[in-house]
Amino acid sequence: MRRIFALTLVTLTAGMAYAHNGVKDPQVMARMQGMEQISGAFKTLVSMAKNETPLHQAKARMARDTLVLHSSKITALFEPQASDPKSEALPAIWANWDDFSAQADKLQTTAKALDFKDRAALADTLGAVGGTCRACHKNYRAKKN
Ligand code: HEC
Repeated sequence: MRRIFALTLVTLTAGMAYAHNGVKDPQVMARMQGMEQISGAFKTLVSMAKNETPLHQAKARMARDTLVLHSSKITALFEPQASDPKSEALPAIWANWDDFSAQADKLQTTAKALDFKDRAALADTLGAVGGTCRACHKNYRAKKN
């Protein structure tokens, strides 16, 4: 069991390194790293909500703060229409900038509303956060093959 877990972790880390591998544009790199921060914090909370890891108040608060902080940076990071062959950002972002910004705001609002007094409350409020990832990626991030 332990070995399987270690293996999964290695694969995950390798995958993340690969996602940035060969990205040359520094602005694209910066926005990808912002998304990785968001993703890491989100995964921490998901794993607590699913009881895969114990609900830890200080860790949950830290993850919430990371989500709030990095969601507040999305519009500044994406404002320059930077491109890179490795980027999954769609041109629709800049053609629908007001809507894209609103989606970023929604992530921040739902992150601020996260309640982790217990697992049920976390699961309830985390659903809304996850909804914003999906809604934005659906329109503005190229589908992975
Ligand atoms: C306002 C829109 C928006 C929201 C909200 C959003 N994302 Fe993203 N995300 C994007 C876009 C656009 C990209 C593609 C960026 C690129 O490749 O240049 C992306 C890329 C990513 C990536 C890949 C980063 C990389 O290394 O290439 C991950 C992981 C990710 N998002 C996770 C999340 C999670 C988890 C959430 C919700 C908690 C979320 N995102 C919310 C727009 C959004």
